Amino acid sequence: MDIAILETGYVGLVTGACLAEIGHNVYCQDCDKEKIERLKNGKIPIYEPYLERLVIENKKKRRLFFTDSLKEAICSSVVVFICVGTPPLENGEADLSAIERVTREIAHYSESYKLIIEKSTVPVQTGLWVERTFKIYRLKEIDFDVASNPEFLREGQAVFDFLHPDRIVIGVQSKRAEELLREIYRPIIDRSFNCPIHKECPENEPIPLIVTDIKSAELIKHASNSFLATKISFINAISDICEKTGANIKDVAYGMGLDRRIGKDFLNAGIGFGGFCFPKDLKAFIKISEKCGYDFRLLKEVERINEGRVFLVIEKLKNGLWILKDKTIGILGLSFKPNTDDIRLSPSLKICRLLLKEGAKIRAYDPKAVERAKRELKSQQITYCSSPYEVAKGADALVLCTEWEEFKDLNWKKIKSLMLYPFILDGRNMLEKQKMKDLGFEYVGMGI
Ligand code: UGA
Repeated sequence: MDIAILETGYVGLVTGACLAEIGHNVYCQDCDKEKIERLKNGKIPIYEPYLERLVIENKKKRRLFFTDSLKEAICSSVVVFICVGTPPLENGEADLSAIERVTREIAHYSESYKLIIEKSTVPVQTGLWVERTFKIYRLKEIDFDVASNPEFLREGQAVFDFLHPDRIVIGVQSKRAEELLREIYRPIIDRSFNCPIHKECPENEPIPLIVTDIKSAELIKHASNSFLATKISFINAISDICEKTGANIKDVAYGMGLDRRIGKDFLNAGIGFGGFCFPKDLKAFIKISEKCGYDFRLLKEVERINEGRVFLVIEKLKNGLWILKDKTIGILGLSFKPNTDDIRLSPSLKICRLLLKEGAKIRAYDPKAVERAKRELKSQQITYCSSPYEVAKGADALVLCTEWEEFKDLNWKKIKSLMLYPFILDGRNMLEKQKMKDLGFEYVGMGI
């Protein structure tokens, strides 16, 4: 099928590359000419496992094209995925101006039937506005459908999530739209494509395809992200109780998670959730609810608990080191989660900012995110390092902020010998407490 992707940000690029991988002809559009030129040369603007390979191979197979021309992308396709950003406005609502703009453009350039699919995370009822806008701005009485097809991609695992989703949700209002979407996702649903990720590919039943009305599909996305964020804040609250009572959050979470009704995922206590999805979607959902006349106090509390986590880190450091001014704090991990170079709303960066306010000096390392962090945090007080060992040199304490796999197998004996004082705050409960203590570290976790 001929598919246009407007625009080629994180979601757009993953969606485009994966749809090409399963056999479609995909036209990825973006107004940023420089980005498009780089993509044409196989240069990926983000770090995401497997993505570069998919882009290069599908370009070669002539199934994936990049263009800065909206007209070209729209005229080459029957199906148009809207993948533009919906960043937060100052009041927390999602800024939908890009959705409106591209809808007008699709209406303007469409010469024949189009299926317009919302992939971007949007408030419930956005589909109605897309439909209305298309009707107003189309130049001819051409037929069209609007659909919602939310994404559930986790950064760092987005290609895997796209090709092996737990479910595919489509919100439609016509049989034609449903059939087209079924056709697009058929290879994924019946697992008939050759998976480019050769490890950990589940080979069981077909993927469930959930067909709903458009509003319900829109709501599924916000409700899912909010629920997952709630799970994280819930376990973080329990971890505070563990600390006050001497219980161990890892055991508590394990014991809870084995109950299938609860599930073991998203019960890792720590320094809280970051990234460009949960914090912004939570705020947007609180606003959406407010607009419909519902005061979502539960989600406000989820947000409040999360915002408190980074202050707890500072408190723990003060408990261990007394005064932070002029102390050297080593930061392990800058991205908001492992396997990505994304630092947007990363708890690690928030901790760095709080430490700078306290007058501390920082030595920081991340396997992928140092360059981005450098652009964001330019303080003279931060030394960016090329390894965890360099971070440890002369440090009064280390704070593990992101659970990159490589931090598990560090030579901790060596790290200890490099530090001024062997204090470690494990913000993700990644390390083994007893092992660290046996090595002579003063170990502080989050609820253990
Ligand atoms: C999230 C959702 O998981 C995706 O399903 C969704 O599609 C995406 O948002 C989106 O809306 O685009 P993402 O933000 O990439 O994906 O990453 P997550 O794996 O969900 O992690 C989010 C944050 O929660 C990270 O900072 C992570 O460290 C934190 N987290 C996660 C915890 O603190 N504890 C946990 O147990 C799990």
